[in-house]
Amino acid sequence: MRTGYEKGFQVYTLTDCVAATSIGEHVNAIANDYQMFSRPVKSTDFAAALVSTEQGAQRRQLPTRVLIPPSSALRRVLQMPNFRRASAGLDTVTGMSEYTGHVDPQGAPATRELPDITITKLSVGPMDNNAYLLVCRRTGDALLIDAANDNQRISDLLGDGPDRPRLRSIVTTHSHADHWQALGAVAGQTGANLYAGAADAAALPVPTDVPLDQGDTVPLGDCRLEVIALRGHTPGSVALLFRDPTGYPHLFTGDSLFPGGPGKTVTPQNFSSLMDDLQARVFDVLPDDTWVYPGHGDDTTLGAERPQLAQWRARGW
Ligand SMILES: [Fe+2]
Repeated sequence: MRTGYEKGFQVYTLTDCVAATSIGEHVNAIANDYQMFSRPVKSTDFAAALVSTEQGAQRRQLPTRVLIPPSSALRRVLQMPNFRRASAGLDTVTGMSEYTGHVDPQGAPATRELPDITITKLSVGPMDNNAYLLVCRRTGDALLIDAANDNQRISDLLGDGPDRPRLRSIVTTHSHADHWQALGAVAGQTGANLYAGAADAAALPVPTDVPLDQGDTVPLGDCRLEVIALRGHTPGSVALLFRDPTGYPHLFTGDSLFPGGPGKTVTPQNFSSLMDDLQARVFDVLPDDTWVYPGHGDDTTLGAERPQLAQWRARGW
């Protein structure tokens, strides 16, 4: 029995294990049936797959959750789109249920459900850019942060059913080209309003409908996001803050803040500007449990980064 999830693990829920003598055999049978794997799934693939409800599994109580380690070949099978489609038809394997803040490049999206909104993270394009789709759960209105690349994969997040979210807004966190490769396509398909920092708007390939500055807000259905201008990585970089009334704040930082440091700057003046804004507008006013969603790579929290602020200043990057 294992409690807690290690970083990078993903959680799958098996909803129908009745006919299987073990979870391993069950998934093995599915993988082999659909021949989506270059070799049979071996028992060693499950060596570190940890059943979170062992007793439930033994009694065939459902659902049973399995943790798939990052290195497991099984994980790659479960992430293959064809496999997921085939298995969904059998109602055997459903998607991830535990948000860790990690998604694989070109891999499956990860979704976190808050009481008011859902947040879906997807890595797109050759530079492992993160696109975030936020959906208001009451109205179905959606907002996309960085239509960075892979128009089709971003569109797939919205689905095609009659109840699919309506993409009302796209916010571009800053003007660097890896963050807007799909902006024109997604905007053209959806008619969404386009938002970007005022000082970066002129450098985008599509006209900005609403230029943003410090203190502005962007609507998301019944909710709203607060705009925090962070000047330095680019002059018009913006972060977006969602204050969850039931929990900790959620901060989308673009390339201005990552695990381990601020975003890249090209002059000492730009570095000082970014650090000053991060200090005054983020670290001084938001709590340690603020969850940080960066423009590339894994998520972090302000509490994890705060002890390093002085070190970042001293090193100058
Ligand atoms: Fe950037």
